[in-house]
Formats: sequence, structure tokens, C-alpha cells
Amino acid sequence: MKKAKVKRQKVKVKREDAKRVFTSAFCLLPFAFLFGEQSVLNPAGPQSGRVNSLFRLMSYVNAAVFVLVGIAVLVAIFRKRAERKRKSDEPDISPDPQREQRMTRVVMGAVGVTIVILFIYLIGSYTTGRGLYSPAESKALSIKITGHQWWWDVEYDDPIASNIVHTANEIHIPVGQLVKLRLTSDDVIHSFWVPNLSGKKDLIPGHEIVLEFQSDSAGEFRGQCAEFCGYQHAKMALFVVAEPTSQYRQWAEASMAQAAPPSGPAAVRGQQVFMKSSCSLCHNIEGTLSGSHAGPDLTHLASRRTLGAGTIRNTRGNLAGWIVDPQRIKPGVHMPPNQLAPDDLEALLTYLQSLR
Ligand code: CUA
Repeated sequence: MKKAKVKRQKVKVKREDAKRVFTSAFCLLPFAFLFGEQSVLNPAGPQSGRVNSLFRLMSYVNAAVFVLVGIAVLVAIFRKRAERKRKSDEPDISPDPQREQRMTRVVMGAVGVTIVILFIYLIGSYTTGRGLYSPAESKALSIKITGHQWWWDVEYDDPIASNIVHTANEIHIPVGQLVKLRLTSDDVIHSFWVPNLSGKKDLIPGHEIVLEFQSDSAGEFRGQCAEFCGYQHAKMALFVVAEPTSQYRQWAEASMAQAAPPSGPAAVRGQQVFMKSSCSLCHNIEGTLSGSHAGPDLTHLASRRTLGAGTIRNTRGNLAGWIVDPQRIKPGVHMPPNQLAPDDLEALLTYLQSLR
């Protein structure tokens, strides 16, 4: 009997320890954004820099207000206690006009300070909002981004049709040049957010909203859909790759080109599999007869970092898993499963991996 009781107590203590560890880990979660490639505290351009300055101003002022209010509360508590000790047990409830007056002045002063702070915030956010947009005549790289459940269609604007680059979930930009995104959506409201580069902006079906940003340093920045848009909202990531201008030009020129014709028997067979199966009904590969943009453009699929909008890394094994059963990797995704014969799958993988 006694042993069982001790055991039960031990289990209870262990469970409480686990609870405590879990709670502290959970409390630390909000600070996760301090680290990594997706962080508001690590601005890479002037637009995100302005947002960051406003955020810092608000954080410092709010922290100061928090500390001052805390001190005021503690002082009030200790004063009251000391007063009680000094006086008799009978609490003194008779009105004290002098004291009332003093308290009214303190409260009015605090309200005045609050109003001043809120006005500073108002002016700060207004000027920050205005500062995020440049004059209309500035030369910018224009890109159309269309949100889909749950991926990003990326189309680089160009007056010459053959120079239009079409890709998905990955945006390459030259360092130091203003980028103007034309945001829209194909289904529900999404929100574009790459914290290192800009604030959030909604993508609304049937509307076009412009978002501007610039990266002053080379790097890879992760973005995330910031508006709940259905089951796989969490797996709707994108990457902005900021490169020196020459490197960007190289990428753009390679991306303008049509897909290279398949070389070798496996790739040739892979292309046939692609054209004969349901793949070609939803995906486009420039230079072939497929031409649908219902799903991501695959012309240069092999050069992209991830599959499924940042869900998995773009490796041969992951690509195979994605083709055969995307629902296992990203349940709810609009891509259907594909039951291909092993040889056909191998050939298809070889072909898709040749699309650089
Ligand atoms: Cu798209 Cu959330």
C-alpha cells in the first residue's frame, strides 16, 4: 500500500516537472523570431529598417512604461503596509481632501503622458507608412505575385514576352535595386511577409496591391503567408534570394530560356511520361506542349531550393515522394497522387532533375 502511494507521488512529481519544462519552453516561443533567417529584428533594406525603427521605439517606450507602472504599484503597496503598521488596527476611512487632490493630479498627469505617447506612436506609424513607398517615377524591378492555396506564383514583368520569367515560391532580386511587387490572389486572401525586407501586405482576389522593398545586402530571406488561408497555411513559405546584380542577371537570363530538350534515353522517356500523365494538365514547362499554370511552373524546377512552397528540400528522393503521394507530405494540397510504374517514375525524376 505504502509503496504504491510513494510511486504515485513520484509519478505526480515527474508530471509536474514535465509541465514546468513545457510551460517555460512555451514562454520562450515568442522570442524564437529573434533568431534565424526570418526575423523582423534583422532588417536588410531601408523599408524593413523603418519598420524596425518604429518597432524599437515602441518596444523601448512600452518597456519603460511597464517598469514605471510596476515601480508605482510596488511603492503604493509598501507605503500602505507601513502606514497600517504605524497606525492602530482601526482603518482610517475619513476623507482627506489634500490627499484626494494629490491623487487626482497624479492620475491626470499619467493620462496626459499616455496621450502624448499615443500621439508620438501615431505620428511615427504615419511617417513610417509613408516612408515605405518611393516616388512613382523611381525605376523598380516589377514582379507579379499571385497567391494560391498554398503556393506563390511568381512572374517577372517585361515588355518583351520572351523575357518574362515565370517561377514559383522563390524570388531572386538584385541587391540595391527597388523591387515593386504587384500582389493578387487566385482564391482566398493570403498575406505576403518577408520580415527581413518588408511589412505584411494582403493578397486579395480580384485586386492588385503594390508592395515595395529593397535589399541592401546579399542573402536568403524566408517569408511566410501571414493570413490564415486554409489547412496548409503554415506550409506556404517563400524565399527571397538577394544577389549581386551580375549574379542576378545570370539567373534571370537562364530563367528566361526555355527548358533544355531532354538528353539521354531516361530523360527522353521522362518527358514522355510527363506529357502523357496528368502532370502536363496542371504544370507548364516552357518549350514543351504543356502550358497550364494551375500548378507551379516547372521550367527550371531543378534550380529551386524547395518543393511544396518550402515544405521539403528539393532532392530526388523528396521529389519522388511528392509526385507519388503529395497528400502524405502536405495534406489538402490540390495535387493528386500519381501511381506511376517504378521505371516511369525514375525516368520522370531524371527528366525533372535536368530542368535547371
Ligand atoms: Cu496563404 Cu496563409
